Amino acid sequence: MESLNTYRTQLETYLDKQVEKEEPQQLYDPIRYILSLGGKRLRPTLTLMAAEIFGSKSQKAIPAALAVELFHNFSLIHDDIMDEAPLRRGKETVHQKWDLNTGILSGDAMLILAYQLFEQYEPALFRDLAVLFSQTAIEVCEGQQYDMDFETRDDVSIPEYLRMIEFKTAVLVGASLKMGALVAGATEESANSIYHFGRLLGLAFQLQDDYLDAFGDPEKFGKQVGGDIISNKKTYLYLKALELSAPADGESLRQLYSVQPADPSEKVDTVMDLFVQSGADKAIQKAVEYFTIKANEELDNIDLSDQAKQQFRDFGLWLMNRST
Ligand code: IPE
Ligand code: IPE
Ligand code: MG
Ligand code: MG
Ligand code: MG
Repeated sequence: MESLNTYRTQLETYLDKQVEKEEPQQLYDPIRYILSLGGKRLRPTLTLMAAEIFGSKSQKAIPAALAVELFHNFSLIHDDIMDEAPLRRGKETVHQKWDLNTGILSGDAMLILAYQLFEQYEPALFRDLAVLFSQTAIEVCEGQQYDMDFETRDDVSIPEYLRMIEFKTAVLVGASLKMGALVAGATEESANSIYHFGRLLGLAFQLQDDYLDAFGDPEKFGKQVGGDIISNKKTYLYLKALELSAPADGESLRQLYSVQPADPSEKVDTVMDLFVQSGADKAIQKAVEYFTIKANEELDNIDLSDQAKQQFRDFGLWLMNRST
């Protein structure tokens, strides 16, 4: 089993070579740009890790891993348009640096490049990977739409929120692992269990993302801190704060989430205070822990050595304690 850093280095080398075409520059430059900004590369790392743990050479999973990372980066370009986000990985977002149309088309091209990578697999595996990938991609779109719908709704429930993040984020984490398992020819049961492990870990991961969006260190986080508050995202922090606050505070929170002031700094400060006063900041950290534990329980269903399972658990632990 190679270390996480070795996987990352391996991935960086391949990612660098993914887009060699130069023209039209306005199409390919933004793709190279977003890929060059790095990121944690957690999804393709999971693909390589799963492939190796289920008995294949990690090398065989490289095209699938690259596909997952290309898809993820495509979704980030479009997500930043939808969220009107100025910063990504500590740098300007693609639509900010170029323009909206460039972000749309470069994103589309990345999605297609992702699919093309599966052509490197033999027909039966190609089919299995494409079926999983398409199902996952459509769910991500559904999740993204719910996320947007929730901005203007004032009656979102916690179960609805959890379903939304399951779709926009968690299924891709599950699919990244399952692709590695498929490449390695793991049993259907194992492939499905590792998918569920990833799905639960993905829920913890998105909850942590929501936490960091409000409480992260701007130097490390790489995105605009407070962005979710500015956009009136009905995250777990907000929903828990509503649940735990005294009626007057709850009313203030609702009111703040019904407006979008030109200068949002006062709104962000007040909302952050309400998140802390209500204990929602602690509650979300508990939820991150809860879903990480649930994920680990899923590993009990897989026929792997304890040492192999420990590598998955360690990955979860690393994710839970991340600051970027
Ligand atoms: C950001 O994903 C989008 C979410 C689903 C929260 P990552 O936090 O994995 O982003 P990078 O790739 O490391 O920048
Ligand atoms: C992102 O959710 C989900 C996808 C990109 C599909 P967020 O909107 O929370 O991701 P960040 O915070 O911008 O990375
Ligand atoms: Mg976003
Ligand atoms: Mg978003
Ligand atoms: Mg976020």
